[in-house]
Amino acid sequence: MNSQVPPEKPMLIALSGKCCASTPFWFMRQAGRYLPEYRKIRDTAGDFLDLCYSPDLAVEVSLQPIRRFSMDGIILFSDILVVPDALGIGLRYVEGEGPKLDALERDQPIPSYEPEKFLDHLTPVFETLKGLSAIAPSGTTVIGFAGAPWTVAAYMIEGGTSRDFAKTKTWAFEEPDSLTTLIDLLVETTSDYLLAQVEAGAECVQIFDSWAGVLPETALHRWSLAPIAEIARRIKKDYPHVPVIAFPRGAGLSYELFARDPNITALSLDPTVPLAWAAQTLQPHVTLQGNLDPHYLVCGGAVMREEAERILDALSGGPFIFNLGHGILPQTPPEHVSELAEIVLGWKG
Ligand code: CP3
Repeated sequence: MNSQVPPEKPMLIALSGKCCASTPFWFMRQAGRYLPEYRKIRDTAGDFLDLCYSPDLAVEVSLQPIRRFSMDGIILFSDILVVPDALGIGLRYVEGEGPKLDALERDQPIPSYEPEKFLDHLTPVFETLKGLSAIAPSGTTVIGFAGAPWTVAAYMIEGGTSRDFAKTKTWAFEEPDSLTTLIDLLVETTSDYLLAQVEAGAECVQIFDSWAGVLPETALHRWSLAPIAEIARRIKKDYPHVPVIAFPRGAGLSYELFARDPNITALSLDPTVPLAWAAQTLQPHVTLQGNLDPHYLVCGGAVMREEAERILDALSGGPFIFNLGHGILPQTPPEHVSELAEIVLGWKG
């Protein structure tokens, strides 16, 4: 399917639609607070955003999990909210509370997009990717990423995380045309951002739509699927060989529509997706990635092994990358991550 795939990179082989001798794996949020060596750097770096914008430290933090667990994928260390930050929306991370943004109101103008200024602000991210491509172990694949327009818009509108995204949803339902202006801006900026990541060395990209699942069916098509499909189209137009992984968390049966989009290469499954259905309905069209509930990784031991093997058994018959169904939790014991890596490496189907 893809003649440009270097044969030594298992993750790219899986993303080209082929099965690998041994299942490639990486874990969402594999760099982070569950690792003592991350906390050490985090404590000295100052603010979390300073860490994201310090290429040397960001390279180091991206590599930390690879040194311990030899994942096949190395994800850029950054955050989805650097996009609103680069658009000039005030952003800070409050210890124990998460991100806080200057919330966007309906009667406020949508921020304007000045591509040069925007990409200039994100230069440290591209420097991190260049550093990673230069020193990533030879079999590993460098993963770039961005948030999907819906999820990033939701943080911009709520001003942070939210239980029900009420403000964003009522805006979407009552004034869809005005929300379209914001979503279109984010399609534009996110496409340019991901293209620049590819130019800096990202070998594939993942688009995180963490809050796709709060939308009912038709709204999900409009606000999650359509913007992601447009970003994927723009990436594929310039870089047809670069795989695009979409993660529409909580999309349920609508995962099938993502699978049928010609520009989406792979789908990251959340833990609720039934595996037999995914193998039958999605895997003929796309590579699958997922979907161990991160709480199993907190538990470790036999319960984790049983669940990981159930996933490997169900999805290894087609192109598949083992991962979690959402990010690693901060309370995860690193030894459990070693155990899981061994389960995946030792799995013989
Ligand atoms: O290792 C990796 O996966 C790469 C780094 C990465 C981070 N955030 C670092 C981070 C990635 C891929 C993300 C994506 C991200 N960020 C998402 C999408 C995935 C998901 O989890 O749903 C979202 C919604 C965000 C926004 C965000 N950033 C929140 C809600 C929070 C606070 C919650 C938390 O875990 O603290 C962050 C902060 C954040 N992003 C941290 C890290 C390592 C913790 C900050 C710290 O070190 O204090």
